[in-house]
Amino acid sequence: MRVPFLDLTAQYNEVKPEIDAAVAEIFATSAYVLGKWNRELEAKVAAIHGVRHGIAVNSGTDALRIAMQACDIGPGDEVITTAFTFVASVETIVQLGATPVFVDIDEATYNMDPSKVAAAVTSRTKAIMPIHLFGQLANVSEIERIAKEHGLTVVEDAAQAVGNHYEGKAAGNWGRAAGLSFYVTKNLGAAGDGGLILTNDDEVKERSLSLRIHGMGRERYYYDEVGYTSRMAELQAAVLTCKLARLDDWNRRRGELAEIYLQELSDEAIGLPVTSVGNNHTFHQFTVRHPQRDQLMAFLKENEIDSGIYYPVPLHLHKPYASFGKGAGSLPVTEKVSRECLSLPIHQHLSDEQAQFAASQVAEFCRTAAVTR
Ligand SMILES: Cc1ncc(COP(=O)(O)O)c(C=O)c1O
Repeated sequence: MRVPFLDLTAQYNEVKPEIDAAVAEIFATSAYVLGKWNRELEAKVAAIHGVRHGIAVNSGTDALRIAMQACDIGPGDEVITTAFTFVASVETIVQLGATPVFVDIDEATYNMDPSKVAAAVTSRTKAIMPIHLFGQLANVSEIERIAKEHGLTVVEDAAQAVGNHYEGKAAGNWGRAAGLSFYVTKNLGAAGDGGLILTNDDEVKERSLSLRIHGMGRERYYYDEVGYTSRMAELQAAVLTCKLARLDDWNRRRGELAEIYLQELSDEAIGLPVTSVGNNHTFHQFTVRHPQRDQLMAFLKENEIDSGIYYPVPLHLHKPYASFGKGAGSLPVTEKVSRECLSLPIHQHLSDEQAQFAASQVAEFCRTAAVTR
């Protein structure tokens, strides 16, 4: 039985009438840029997070870069973050002329280990960027406490955490700003790139609105600072708004599939995802850990089950970011998790039978590996 990692065609087919009508209307009216769909998406996404402002931009990467710039993060500043993430989290810090300072992750949740943060604070530390990986928030209440104690700004990388909350407070409320991603593979995915900045701060909102159109002020063709071209296309805003109505159902379905995996694999010698207390996990990824990860992946492939490695090499071991880290061995948990992690297919169009089959094959591998080790 084939178990695909994603099924974007099934996703489109489910929302086809709404998307097709919206796209036809955009072409019929030639309203391509910063129009009603952008405004509707911004208002709705802000509302589901209980945040005052949403600013739609061209990608999650731009959302992070613009959010940090709007929070005055720049040359000379240090930003404490983690290396077990997609490159954009750290790339944007470096692009702003700031310095990423890596701390290790928590082995259970793969998110920032707050107990490592205080020791990384220096006189140059400006901000902490927790990354809410795989569909649950980092331990933000503890991170918020540390940030307050040291007078630091928090900018949340919520690229994988649309609609997630911790202790009843959604992403976007734990920092001065947060960046969401709507890349095609996300729980809420566009037909291409898209992102959004969440903030309760009026100044960050105004600067973000300006930065997404080249730093232009209220007067046309007058510029306040160096900005970007980062408008979200109306076509993308329309696709996202149509899909947003389904997001709760889709996340519920991901939760059911996660339950199947968790039950079927509960007795096996494999690391399973842990939902930390206070979180609503929406399983952007269902990531397991096994010491023979590459063999497990190959075994699944032989049985027509897709899987993915997020992320194979932590960022402090990549050439452009090595100078910001302390080399191999400096982040032991991050490095171990990178060696062992494997994400199994989990999307709303997977059937129970497909999840059960994938789980049975993982279980079979675990038993064989345990005997031959
Ligand atoms: C943790 C994380 N941060 C940032 C990004 C960047 O988002 P985008 O791909 O929309 O630019 C992503 C997207 O994959 C991500 O997973």
